[in-house]
Amino acid sequence: MNINLQQNIQLNDYVSDFRADIFSGLSNYPKKLSSKYFYDKIGDHLFQQIMNMPEYYLTQCELDIFKNKTEQIVNAISKGIESFDLIELGAGDAMKSSFLLETLAEKRTSFTYMPIDISGNILSVLQDSLSKKIPTLEIYPLEGEYFDMLDKATRISERKKVVLFLGGNIGNMDMKETIHFCSELKRKLNPGDLFIIGFDLKKHPQTILNAYNDPAGITASFNLNLLTRINRELNANFMLEQFQHYQTYDPISGACKSFLVSLCDQTVCIENHRFHFKENELIDMEISQKFSRQDIRSLAGNSGFHIVTEINDSKNWFVDSIWMI
Ligand code: AVI
Repeated sequence: MNINLQQNIQLNDYVSDFRADIFSGLSNYPKKLSSKYFYDKIGDHLFQQIMNMPEYYLTQCELDIFKNKTEQIVNAISKGIESFDLIELGAGDAMKSSFLLETLAEKRTSFTYMPIDISGNILSVLQDSLSKKIPTLEIYPLEGEYFDMLDKATRISERKKVVLFLGGNIGNMDMKETIHFCSELKRKLNPGDLFIIGFDLKKHPQTILNAYNDPAGITASFNLNLLTRINRELNANFMLEQFQHYQTYDPISGACKSFLVSLCDQTVCIENHRFHFKENELIDMEISQKFSRQDIRSLAGNSGFHIVTEINDSKNWFVDSIWMI
């Protein structure tokens, strides 16, 4: 198929998914919007700001692992595997994984880096910057949904697979979705393949709450930006000042959740549909699940993996857990 036509079809699918998801989410009770739609251009920028906030410890913790414990990761990967495809789900700017890529390249390991991202733009920027930084790196970017691109990667080569899923992104699914996701991933891999996942660990509840309830209100803007996006892309009339960000953390379940609260009784029009909000009614916006070590063991077991090793940051706040089938 002609590439422009294929891109148009993909874009149209994406727009209609977005529309359908927003309409169904706001028709449910409680109302719910998916945080996967936070990441438009402004959302990407706000998330960059979040990662630079002193309260948002996750990025620094995982960077500590990839910068200072690279050898441990390399040893776990290289044991028994001679050559492989290193597939990164949602690679973004590969800020953390680039330390691993550099070390593997220095050791002249035989591997191809396959970053998967929904944004072709991010992938071409990444390809440019990595080719400059690591000229010997073999890079094969895959633009699309995680599982579609994973299928493509297995069709392209029969080499062993090492799949990276970093940043605590696994926490943005509820527990049911998480088990389904890990089990699906297992189905697509073969015995001996590895899955490396970054988990944000349960810790002092205030530390967690502070990371999502910053005094500068950047996380609030990150949530509210989805309403702006709906206004722009679906011709809606959300009045942002009539919604307020509200963050919760339940230290027992580990669910850190963000909501938008309607500050008054109001009706919002999206295209020609009307959605009513009562005063204090909530929109469920995002879950950022936190895990105990036992939660991680259960998840690995329930989805058909065993844990090879776990690499912690120096504060023991975050772990990259390395799983094998
Ligand atoms: C992308 N994801 C792992 C972030 C998190 O911590 O759940 C998104 C985020 N939401 C608010 N702050 C950061």
